[in-house]
Amino acid sequence: MDRTIQPAHQLRGEITVPGDKSISHRSVMIASLAEGTSEIAGFLEAADPLSTLGCIRALGISATMRENTLEVSGKGLHGYRQPGAKLDAGNSGTTMRLLSGILAGQKFPSQISGDQYLNRRPMKRIIDPLTSMGANIVGTDKFTAPLKIFPSEKLHGIVYDLPIPSAQVKSAVLLAGLFAEGTTKVEESQSSRDHTERMLGLSRELIDGKSVVTVHGGHHISATRFFIPGDPSSAAFFIVAALTSKRAEILIKNVGLNPTRTGFLNVLRGMGALITVENERVIGGEPIADIVVKHSSLHSKTVLKGEIIPNIIDEIPILAVAAAFASGTFEVHDAFELRNKECDRIGAVCSNLSAMGIEVEEYEDGFAFSPQNKLISSQFDSFGDHRIAMAFGVAALNLPGGSTMKEAECVDISYPGFWDTLQLLAH
Ligand code: S3P
Repeated sequence: MDRTIQPAHQLRGEITVPGDKSISHRSVMIASLAEGTSEIAGFLEAADPLSTLGCIRALGISATMRENTLEVSGKGLHGYRQPGAKLDAGNSGTTMRLLSGILAGQKFPSQISGDQYLNRRPMKRIIDPLTSMGANIVGTDKFTAPLKIFPSEKLHGIVYDLPIPSAQVKSAVLLAGLFAEGTTKVEESQSSRDHTERMLGLSRELIDGKSVVTVHGGHHISATRFFIPGDPSSAAFFIVAALTSKRAEILIKNVGLNPTRTGFLNVLRGMGALITVENERVIGGEPIADIVVKHSSLHSKTVLKGEIIPNIIDEIPILAVAAAFASGTFEVHDAFELRNKECDRIGAVCSNLSAMGIEVEEYEDGFAFSPQNKLISSQFDSFGDHRIAMAFGVAALNLPGGSTMKEAECVDISYPGFWDTLQLLAH
């Protein structure tokens, strides 16, 4: 469905953004493997985490929503039952990759598949390490889903040096490590988000400049109460909306500020953004705060490459939108992984920036541009990707006349209600 987005007159108000997507997925999976009933407050009821929930239920775990709290009755590490049908991960790479780690350790066969977008995304990155742990997992001849996972005699621990910085791959191996004999270690030289290790309470060390996470087979998980903070990746859209709209000032409450996720705030501050963090506290092992953002005149001589890329991987599209309304230049390198997301995000960002009248240079692993003075209203394409839709929905607030967004409903993947909140703030 196409949606028309009008320019904003002003952007003011107080909002909360929905729960963190990464933590929501993990909370359901970890609760399902715990002994007893866990309560999850702030669970993100969006299509992606609901895919995880659907899979967990299909594996015989009961989960009930009671007054905004999701109760999951875990049955321990060996409490799943064989699903009656193929598990459906929908659009969610996190569901498929993390759950495959758990399924690899089960005593029954299973299959997991996704939508047309997910079934094109690379799965060799999890098939390889899980196979080296003794798992029996096969994809298509292109190493994509559907994945078939057969029970294996036993899994054994490995030491895995992540060839690509990916929290999904790291987490898949760590979750399989719960079912493996011995110790599993995952090493990474570029830090990716660390929610899995925080939530499982795993030990972490820095050895020769690499972060090493260790899980012991049979690691006991106790039922607990999870509190899911607001998703910083969702807050990023409103932060940039406020920075780039004249007379804007907004307050976003209860945003997760895990340091493996907040690189985008530093990038924006480097561009001159007026962002204040208030009321900082730690809940459930995750740092949380309120964020005040004011319209700022942004200047960009930004080059994003190397170590920061995994930290800002989901925010690159909205950072590009911020730079489109700044003065100066903006370059992204070392971000080939963006081509493997819900869509080819390098191609999608370049094509939508061009639609606004910006000349963009596209590289295999990034892009570069200098913003133009005269931007034009556009017919944007979301490419069915929630973050592309939201990023260029924000851009549309600053373009003359109305812009349109193709397949605007794909925001439901991580942020149902996004368009309503945007409209409410930008009246
Ligand atoms: C995620 C990890 C990242 C991120 C995705 C969520 C996670 O993917 O882009 O939106 O929850 O672990 P990669 O592991 O592929 O980098």
